[in-house]
Amino acid sequence: MQITLDNITQAVINHGDRGTSHPRLYEIYTRLIQHLHDFVREVNLTEPELQQGRDFIHQASHHTQEIPTGEIHMLTDLLGISELVELLHDAQRGTEGNLEGPLYVPNAPDRQMGDRLGVDPAGDTLFLSGHVLDLNGEPIAHALIDVWQPNSQGLYDIQDPAQPQGNFRGRFSTDRSGKYTFVTVVPMGYNVPASGPSGELLRRLGRHTWRAAHIHFKLNAPEFTPLTTQIYIGGDTHLDSDTTFAVRSAIVHLQKHESPDELKARDQSKPFYTTEFDFVLKPATLAETHKATAESYVYAIDSK
Ligand SMILES: [Fe+2]
Repeated sequence: MQITLDNITQAVINHGDRGTSHPRLYEIYTRLIQHLHDFVREVNLTEPELQQGRDFIHQASHHTQEIPTGEIHMLTDLLGISELVELLHDAQRGTEGNLEGPLYVPNAPDRQMGDRLGVDPAGDTLFLSGHVLDLNGEPIAHALIDVWQPNSQGLYDIQDPAQPQGNFRGRFSTDRSGKYTFVTVVPMGYNVPASGPSGELLRRLGRHTWRAAHIHFKLNAPEFTPLTTQIYIGGDTHLDSDTTFAVRSAIVHLQKHESPDELKARDQSKPFYTTEFDFVLKPATLAETHKATAESYVYAIDSK
């Protein structure tokens, strides 16, 4: 077949077993090819511009100085793709999901109810508490809460040699009444790492690199859908223009306490803040339940 401008897209799509072995992959692939080819036609892409695109992807794939997990994850956040996926699959009921970001580290330190999440003498102390509930408002006991945040200077432990490993990261369990509580500092909003190709792209587009101040959470409980989300600090100047487009309704308002009686009651030497946030989890889908059962079955076999 003679390849032409008119048939090249279909020729690519038809090349192979047309999804016989992997139908979902083929569905995504064919739509991607269609959109990419349409995009190339629409902007009349030139060879030098295509090479710039290749170079950009190559550099983004290899730029890891500031983000140990790589820059591609951050790029999907900056282009609004991560948040678009969240919005597409939003729970409607229950606490809304929010993007994970590229700075999550598994196996955070296990901490006890009421513990301090990290060390930061310059920070404003924040007492954060709430409940993990089901859709009926009933408490979920022994839910696992994995939390991570930057310090009061907007830096995560893995970006800052001055912080001990695991600083402002921790895993907590809710008690029998579904309650959690821990002590932290008010996080500062920060500029996303911008020394790589993504930062250069934002600069060329006249986009700023600020994220509104936030705290990240992952919640897990048996028989409930896992939730990855963030809560945002009310009053932050970038709530309306966060560079990842991720701020929606999960905004907490901090209450300041500075009277002598309040300081004494909490054993604090300077003004501090409190706030509360309740998480609501959806019941697990049938597929999630099957997956959890299969994983525990494999684990049981491995343990023998
Ligand atoms: Fe973050």
